[in-house]
Order: sequence, then structure tokens, then C-alpha cells
Amino acid sequence: MDQQNYSRVAEFVLLGLSSSWELQCFFFVFFNFLYIVIVLGNFLIVFTVISEPALHTPMYIMLSNLSVLDVFLATYATPKMIHDFFHERKTISFDGCMAQIFLLHVFAGGEMVLLVAMAYDRYVAICKPLHYATIMNVCKCTGFVVGSWVIGVIHSLSQLAFTVNLPFCGPNIVDSYYCDLTLVIKLACIDTYIPEVLMVLDSGLMGMASFLLLLISYTFILLTIRRHSSAGMAKARSTLTAHITVVMLFFGPCIFIYAWPFSSFQVDKVFSVFSTVFTPILNPIIYTLRNKEVKSAMLKLKTRYISSRLPVLTRTLRCFKQDQNC
Ligand SMILES: *[C@@H]1O[C@H](CO)[C@@H](O)[C@H](O)[C@H]1NC(C)=O
Repeated sequence: MDQQNYSRVAEFVLLGLSSSWELQCFFFVFFNFLYIVIVLGNFLIVFTVISEPALHTPMYIMLSNLSVLDVFLATYATPKMIHDFFHERKTISFDGCMAQIFLLHVFAGGEMVLLVAMAYDRYVAICKPLHYATIMNVCKCTGFVVGSWVIGVIHSLSQLAFTVNLPFCGPNIVDSYYCDLTLVIKLACIDTYIPEVLMVLDSGLMGMASFLLLLISYTFILLTIRRHSSAGMAKARSTLTAHITVVMLFFGPCIFIYAWPFSSFQVDKVFSVFSTVFTPILNPIIYTLRNKEVKSAMLKLKTRYISSRLPVLTRTLRCFKQDQNC
């Protein structure tokens, strides 16, 4: 279609999660709560890792970077969804829609690469413990973090490159609460078969490559752990369970949204919510409730910042009360 022959849609209409008023009220409270937990929980992890020198290791530095990505992943669409609950007509401008698509793919792509880097880190720590210090140095860790952002941006730009130029000439109803690329692409006024194949290939390639790399490193790790059933391996096993849980819950929805050709939109919606709201909450839950090192670091911080202030505080109060000259 010729660029001049149509007027591009100015905005997209989002149908949201549900049209029922009661459900929307419930979702409003529920997602507000979840969003606050996501932001606080992930910042708690970042704060703990930054302020505890014992956690300045590649694994925890990458973990706190993952938490930052999680906050971004929860922020590109969820606040707008919460804001939209009380609006009958939920719209998003064309540019806003493209921005959401761009951000989702940057953050999700970055998170995939970072998960692979974390798996590689565990692989080196468990399978090549004697060489860990030389293989996983600070430089390499920074390289992984920067690399995950760069790959995320490249992946996202490649998705957007063919999306922004599609002719959106009229249909503009997106049956979701954010601009989901899989739905937006269908609105173009051409046969969208090729763009859809490109999109699935692009995201699929990214997802499959990361998933395979994860699978390979976890297989090596599991084999090593099976061979040495010492006490030291028990800790490795518990860390590993946490990693594998995060990976499964992160990739499960992705696979459903992109690789499951028969899924209905309702199923897609559920999985979209899963990846934008539940995945970002996993890290804080898994790492704060299950990981001994993080837990003890948090306890230490609590002692330093809260308990140590208490005696000072009570003494000051007593001074005030008794009008003593302290
Ligand atoms: C993320 O990774 C970089 C590079 O390793 C590190 O310098 C930085 O402190 C990390 N950021 C957070 C929030 O932990």
C-alpha cells in the first residue's frame, strides 16, 4: 500500500482486562498492591546487594540488575493499566503504543540475556569452581550486564523496524491492556502473514536461543551436582532451584504468547498479565524468602538501620520526657 493513500490511525483503543465494573474495581486494588510490592521488593534487593559488601559477587550484582529490569518490566504497562481501570474509553496514542512495544522487547530481551548470564555464572561456579575467580571477574560481569541491554535494544529495534512502517489505516481495537505486538500487527491493512512470521521468528529466535543456552548450562550443573553429593552441593542445589523456577515462570508465558498458534485471546491475556506482573514479583519472593545469604544480609541491614537507632531514639525520648540535660 502506498504511504500517501491512507491516513494512519492516531490512537489505539485498548479493551483492557475486563469490561465488568466489579472486576475492574477488584483489579484496581489487586494490581495497585502488586505494583507496590514489585517496586518495594525489587528495590529492597538492589539496596541489600549494594550496601552489603559480602554480596558484591557477580551473581548478586547480576541479580540486582535483574531486579532493576523487573521494575522496568512492571512499569512500561502496569501503571497505565491501573490508571485506565476508571476510564470507560481506554486509548493510547500511536507513538505511545510503539513505545510500549519497544520497551517491552528491550526489557524482556535484556532479562532473557541476563538470565543466561546468571546461569553461565552458576555453571562456572559449580562445574569449574577452581577457575571461578579467573573466569568470572568484575569486568566480565559488567560486560554481561551491558551486553544484555545492548542485545535487548537490538532485538527490540529489529521488531519495531518492520512494525512502525506497516499501514495502520483504520482498525485500531487492541483486545488487551497494553499494545501487545502480536495483536497490533494484525491491525495493519495488508496481508499480515509475512510480518507475523517475521515477528514470531524474531522473538522466537531470541527466546529459543536463550532457552537452549539455559537448558545446556542447567543440564551441566545438574549432572555435576548429581556426581558430587557433598554438603557444599546442597547450597548449590537450593540456588539452582531458585534460578530454574524463575526461568520456567519467565519463559512459560513467552512461549505461550509467541509460539502457541492456537491460543485464544483470553489465554493470551492471562499470560500477558503473568509476564508483566507476576514475573517481576518472583525475584524478590524467591530470593528474599529462600536465599540464606540475602536473608542474613537483610537482617544485618535491619540491625544497622533500625535496631541500632532504637536505643538512641529511646534515650532521646527519655531525655525529653524527664527534661534531663543529656
Ligand atoms: C549492575 O551491573 C553493573 C555492572 O556489573 C554494576 O556496576 C551495577 O552496580 C549493577 N547495578 C545494580 C543496581 O546492582
